[in-house]
Amino acid sequence: MATQRGGFTSRLGFILAAAGSAVGLGNIWKFPFEVGKGGGAAFVVMYLAFCFLLCFPVMVAEIAIGRKTQLNPVGAFKALGYKNWAIVGYLGLASGVLILSFYNVVAAWAFGYFVEMLLGNFDIGRNFSSFTQDWITVGSYSVIFMAGTAYVVSKGVSGGIEKAAKILMPTLFVMIIALIIYALTLPHAWDGIRFYLVPDFSQITGKVVYSALGQAFFSLSLGMGALITYGSYVSKNDNIVGAAASITLMDVGVAFLAGFMIFPFVFSQGIETDGGAGLIFVTLPSVFEGLGEVLGVIVGALFFLLLSFAAFTSTISLLEVPTAYMVDEKKIPRKKATWIVAIFIFLVGIPSMLSTGSVDALTHFVNLPGAGEKNFMDFVGLIASDTFLPLGGFLIAVFTAYVWKKENFNIELANGDESIKGSWLQSYVDFAISYICPLLLGLIFIITVMDNFFNVKILTMLFG
Ligand code: PFF
Repeated sequence: MATQRGGFTSRLGFILAAAGSAVGLGNIWKFPFEVGKGGGAAFVVMYLAFCFLLCFPVMVAEIAIGRKTQLNPVGAFKALGYKNWAIVGYLGLASGVLILSFYNVVAAWAFGYFVEMLLGNFDIGRNFSSFTQDWITVGSYSVIFMAGTAYVVSKGVSGGIEKAAKILMPTLFVMIIALIIYALTLPHAWDGIRFYLVPDFSQITGKVVYSALGQAFFSLSLGMGALITYGSYVSKNDNIVGAAASITLMDVGVAFLAGFMIFPFVFSQGIETDGGAGLIFVTLPSVFEGLGEVLGVIVGALFFLLLSFAAFTSTISLLEVPTAYMVDEKKIPRKKATWIVAIFIFLVGIPSMLSTGSVDALTHFVNLPGAGEKNFMDFVGLIASDTFLPLGGFLIAVFTAYVWKKENFNIELANGDESIKGSWLQSYVDFAISYICPLLLGLIFIITVMDNFFNVKILTMLFG
């Protein structure tokens, strides 16, 4: 069976593919601005702590479950003998489908911007809302992005996913370094760096801690079985804990580097740093315009190509989860399974695509008691990324510690790494997966639900 499913040909291939899943839109646009909002370096320290202390153990657990069973998330829980827990796998599938449905639309914006930059259309930033309302254009880029993703996934694990990651990840790294070097030469660049790195602890509130946690978890692609799936293609001789550490380091590293690129760009033109999604798509084009005709085109195109590449290795992993399910559980050949799933998810994403101004009912989709008005895309994001992922992570941690049991988990970790047995690292991972992860992830889930859907502000109650 293993040969039919395919697998990564090398440890490096696996690490790059998983790091590719982790490094995405979350790192390049979301992280720097969360940092800006959350008190600079103070946020960075918290984010790092959450990545290593909380997320890393969950990542180890996901990879171990996948490698032990060599199956997709639904099949994995069944194969371990816990049929009822397959619900966690189904929750993961739902999260994957929903997240990819809107993530692909934002990826399509990034790719569209790459083309616009090549054409020297710096006005695109000022026209951001007309761009997102132009559903024919965005729809075409979405089709291209989803088809590209499906093409890679249809080629299989070693011939598609691993190959793409081996090309795209090093390229991404070179591009980001080149852009940082250039950005640092701009006027006021160092004001940007100072803003990014000098901590302001007074900005740390319960809400900022909550965002750092959520951001760390989303950024590492946890809670929906993406790493169970990738783990299922890993050889029994590979060291899981070491691989998880490398993946976490790469993800955190790229997020951290992204700040060294974005803040100098933004400060060089004297622009405000708040604005989240808008900042990348609304403000950066005019920053690039300020660099002059030729340099602006080169740097702008390079930036949005970087963003597209980062998104692409993430969409690949998002599509792989439901595809692996169809291949393993429904015995559908990979190529066919990939295209069926991709078309389905594209259709699910159409309302998101239309919810940024084109269709009124979708633009003003719901009015939630706590969250207020949300368009369809943000609503799906709230359900899938903010609610389902922490819930999935909570359940995966509880399952690993108390159902599958630490002994079995530890046996799987020792495959490929005898030295982990009895080490402090193993003790920490066991401790975290039993106590810290269920507690914090359970808490995030409850806070998110109570806050957004019931307007019960637990964070304000706790921290003022
Ligand atoms: N980690 C990706 C990012 O930071 O953009 C998003 C993501 C990809 C989340 C894959 C979940 C996932 F399974």
